[in-house]
Amino acid sequence: MEKRKIDIFDTTLRDGEQGPGCVLTLDSKLNIAEKLDFMGVDIIEAGFPISSPADFKAVQEVSRIIKNAKVCALARARELDIDTAAEALKQAKSSRIQLGIGSSDIHIKHKFNTTREEILRVAHDMVKYASKKVEEVQFFAEDAGRADNIFLAKMVETVIVAGAKVVNLPDTNGFCTPFEYYEKIKFIIDHVPNIHKAKISVHCHNDLGMATANTIAGLLAGADQAEGTINGVGERAGNTALEEIIITLLIKDLPISTDINPVFIGELSKMVEKAMSNPVQANKAIVGKNAFAHSSGIHQDGVLKNRINYEIIDPAMIGVELPDLILTSRSGRAALKNRLEALNISFVERNFEQYYEQFLKLADTKSVVAEHDLINLFR
Ligand code: KIV
Ligand code: ZN
Repeated sequence: MEKRKIDIFDTTLRDGEQGPGCVLTLDSKLNIAEKLDFMGVDIIEAGFPISSPADFKAVQEVSRIIKNAKVCALARARELDIDTAAEALKQAKSSRIQLGIGSSDIHIKHKFNTTREEILRVAHDMVKYASKKVEEVQFFAEDAGRADNIFLAKMVETVIVAGAKVVNLPDTNGFCTPFEYYEKIKFIIDHVPNIHKAKISVHCHNDLGMATANTIAGLLAGADQAEGTINGVGERAGNTALEEIIITLLIKDLPISTDINPVFIGELSKMVEKAMSNPVQANKAIVGKNAFAHSSGIHQDGVLKNRINYEIIDPAMIGVELPDLILTSRSGRAALKNRLEALNISFVERNFEQYYEQFLKLADTKSVVAEHDLINLFR
């Protein structure tokens, strides 16, 4: 199948850092940015330069060290924001400003207290202004997830005519379902006359737990760029977790591909977790501690027969080692035998039922039976 290559836009350093308590030091930002570049991310959003001197500096330093990826900085649709972002990006080999304004009637009325016409005028003028200051402009139609599609199409056409090379249609509040988001992206692609002059980007939040599904839906509808963060960090319930998108596109038979080398995912996930002091939930897809752990007897028996019974991803793909089977009171005989053999604890086959009973008695008193527990029990 012919695959369409999409761009991966990482915003761990900008939207990810907006997660409550997820502050990053300059050093951590540079380490993460370098690793993202190494992994093959196409665009790194390094920060929002007008928001603080530290963010300005972070964008400046990331711009200085990044060799391959495009470096992006955020701005509101205001000249001073754009000037500041352009200044911070000066040393980047390849740069982009992402600027935008609200697109839903809720934002237009309750955030900007203005009209649709005025919003279109500002969007047009600021994209034109920014296009003279930086290599490439990406426009974000904030709260596109709740915007009226006909107005949104008008906005997208307006900013493309003004010079935007990428148009981001964020589901800012994580409100869409996958089918709705698919229809929205498809509607824009089908109804914007100059759509061929720009790329469409998808940026989804996880308020209803649908960020990954919505991103995949948007890509299948024809979007050219997926945005997200490592570990899915970000405002409120977070952003699309990029590791989920990258692995989904690798293992599913979809007509879309990326240039990312997934083997760095495990390391990058740990790096972001530590730098943000934000523990990854144990059952988080792909990078959670339990993502490759099998605990129940039925599953452990199946995995011991052939891992493909219960594993859709080889952990080596993301650079992590396969964990040992966990022994709990839900473990079966096959897992216990397997571990005793691995520990070189010999047993008489006809007495195994007794061993298993002793094991269960102990397991009922603990959440996990550790190696030393087994050694104490059977030696
Ligand atoms: O969620 C959002 O709308 C954003 C924009 C700034 C792209 O993060
Ligand atoms: Zn966002």
